[in-house]
Amino acid sequence: MATTARRTSRRLFLGLTGVGTAAVMAGVGAWDLPNAHAAPPKGYPFTLGVASGDPLPDGVVLWTRLAVDPLAPDGRGGMGDRRVPVRYQVATDERFRHVVRSGTVLATPELGHSVHPEVDGLEPDREYFYRFSAGGEISPVGRTRTAPRRDAALDDLTFAFASCQSYEGGHYTAYRHLAEEDLDLVVHLGDYIYEESYLDAPEFHEGGLLPDHLRTECVDLDRYRLQYSLYKSDQHLQTAHQQHPWAFTFDDHEVHNNFRGTNLTPEQAARQAAAFQAMYENLPLRHAQRPDGPDIQIHRKLRYGTLADFTLLDSHQFRGPTSMADRDSPDYTNLGHAQRDWLVDGFSSSQARWQIVGNQQPMAETDRDPDPDVTRITASWDYYVYERNHILREARDRGVDNLVVISGDRHSNYVSDLLTDYAHPDTADLVGTEFVGTSISSNGDGAPESPVGDTLLEANPHMKFVNFQRGYSRVTVTSETFINEFRIVPYVSRPGAPIESLATWVVEDGVPGAVQSA
Ligand SMILES: [Fe+2]
Repeated sequence: MATTARRTSRRLFLGLTGVGTAAVMAGVGAWDLPNAHAAPPKGYPFTLGVASGDPLPDGVVLWTRLAVDPLAPDGRGGMGDRRVPVRYQVATDERFRHVVRSGTVLATPELGHSVHPEVDGLEPDREYFYRFSAGGEISPVGRTRTAPRRDAALDDLTFAFASCQSYEGGHYTAYRHLAEEDLDLVVHLGDYIYEESYLDAPEFHEGGLLPDHLRTECVDLDRYRLQYSLYKSDQHLQTAHQQHPWAFTFDDHEVHNNFRGTNLTPEQAARQAAAFQAMYENLPLRHAQRPDGPDIQIHRKLRYGTLADFTLLDSHQFRGPTSMADRDSPDYTNLGHAQRDWLVDGFSSSQARWQIVGNQQPMAETDRDPDPDVTRITASWDYYVYERNHILREARDRGVDNLVVISGDRHSNYVSDLLTDYAHPDTADLVGTEFVGTSISSNGDGAPESPVGDTLLEANPHMKFVNFQRGYSRVTVTSETFINEFRIVPYVSRPGAPIESLATWVVEDGVPGAVQSA
């Protein structure tokens, strides 16, 4: 898929859509509705950017959310009760000479003035450009790409995965670099927001103190909405959305630390519902992922021809209770039995050469010290040992040749072997590889060397690589190899960091377990 023509087009586009995009595009010709019956209030309404997501062979979902005053304390973006028509266009060229789809959707206060038009009728495996207009204003131009046909034999697929973007943790410089990568897709594995602001570092990325109303914990819809507005005010994050389609699943901090969605009190259910609604309003998710109160279906599949399947999981909403004493009990579930069965059934039904599972917390065991006992990390897969072993045995028994799990949450880069039983590594089978990707900003700068990393490698023989710097992973998949490059920024405490390739790990077709290259 990575043709020369495509790369050329991307470079042109990056040149066009830097600072001042709105002004550039306004010169192309306004195409706003002549009879808009509820114009937005004065001001530029596309302050939160544009996005696209969940590519299919014939379309994508587009996203924007109108907000003329994005950090207004009431969380309503200065939009009030207006119902505002929003027009969208999809074109094959970045100057919109060849518009292939267009339509009008209504931005309403009930959904925080967000819109999620699902565009179909597009060609597979092709680049498109899109934009919105409302109230005489035109949005920045987004670039997206459809998925290939289901039966297409691709030469290659390139994607990045990222997670954990604490606003206070540091600058989103990694996203500026990610935006410039040549990618088919960005997979985000959660902690898109954190529900709490850290009072000891209350500054905007652009400098200046955060106002008091942004230094409280998110507990209701208004405040969750505001948190997304704050995070999305970052231009690097906006640019990363603008340049690539995304596929998103949440981790815990979209709701609250280590949340699980079972046995909720009415207050917990109300908070979860508010958190999920604000999340949906602020991400390019399809209607199938629109929450219904505290319920949402975020686990789903994306397919890239016969080369790769992505299975995105939800290890919070259906998670049951657990205890250290009985962690091997078959009663304890991280996914819920219905989702677990869906996952393992998918191992059999998939036609893809590479089965990529996008997962919140690391799946491979993490023992925090080298003594004989396993010192587990709270609320991790290591508390659901029976279910993990069951899933990995099913992958083996169902003949999955190329299982790769990609994970977030840990604010670290890891490479691990996936074993059917970490308690008995000598007799366990090696069934796949896990790449854990570091945070965009959470935990601050990090360091290239760490005694904690050495301890982890000593305590976990199945773990091959550990690093605690910020960044993202860039992956190139072909029929022969799955290549994971850990891309890091040496600092996030100040802007402008360069991007570096820290290490490259390769999985070969039919050979589980990664090997470091160059
Ligand atoms: Fe995180």
